[in-house]
Amino acid sequence: MKIEIGAQKPANFKTYWDGQYEVFSHFDYACGIPSVLFAITTVKENGKPNVCFHAWSNFTGDGSGFFAVVGGLYRHSHTYANILRTGEFVINFIGQAYYDACMATIAQNDADTDEFAVAGFTQEPAKTLSCPRIKEAFLSLECRLENEMDLSDAGTIALLIGRVQHIAMQEEFAAHLEAGNPGAKYGDEGFMFNIHSPKNLVTGVGEASGLAVLKVVRTDV
Ligand SMILES: Cc1cc2nc3c(=O)[nH]c(=O)nc-3n(C[C@H](O)[C@H](O)[C@H](O)COP(=O)(O)O)c2cc1C
Repeated sequence: MKIEIGAQKPANFKTYWDGQYEVFSHFDYACGIPSVLFAITTVKENGKPNVCFHAWSNFTGDGSGFFAVVGGLYRHSHTYANILRTGEFVINFIGQAYYDACMATIAQNDADTDEFAVAGFTQEPAKTLSCPRIKEAFLSLECRLENEMDLSDAGTIALLIGRVQHIAMQEEFAAHLEAGNPGAKYGDEGFMFNIHSPKNLVTGVGEASGLAVLKVVRTDV
């Protein structure tokens, strides 16, 4: 049997905080789709560096370009304003050891705050942008804004498309995939994933969010 869920929030879906279903769709909690976590770096109007913990994005393209498809960026965030103003951002993939460092940039997030300092990150100059990369990141994507839209037409979240112009990969993470040896990118300190409060679809309860890493199950595909 399949549990079918439509546009209406199921009546048994428990509310854990005010406005929970205005900020996120019930489908988000119902699906529980994991998304890769990373930090977006930008520059504030006063020149201070900004760090934004982010999920809900994808990376795709074709022979003529590779793009960061940044879904669900709050339009009230500093990151959104910085990207619209400068046209530049860096996507920094960091390992789970830096989860708390990224959370600190959410707690201390004023215009006057150097968010690299808050997180204990080191600024690394980008090759093609004036926006800094995170030195501790194992992979950084230097992006220039190409497109922006209001994703839900409610004025709350944006979909941004950035053209990747340059990348930098930490040498220790550069290995290819081999049988029995997934390499550092797909290990415990490689790509990390956000599991956002998946609901038990039978009982409607479920508040916990999770942090995950990959387990490679096949290398013959
Ligand atoms: C695990 C996690 C994932 C997040 N993902 C997003 C996201 O996809 N989009 C977004 O706008 N904010 C996301 N946030 C919230 C931002 O990190 C937060 O609003 C941040 O303070 C915005 O920073 P800024 O105002 O400096 O841009 C996430 C937070 C956490 C803890």
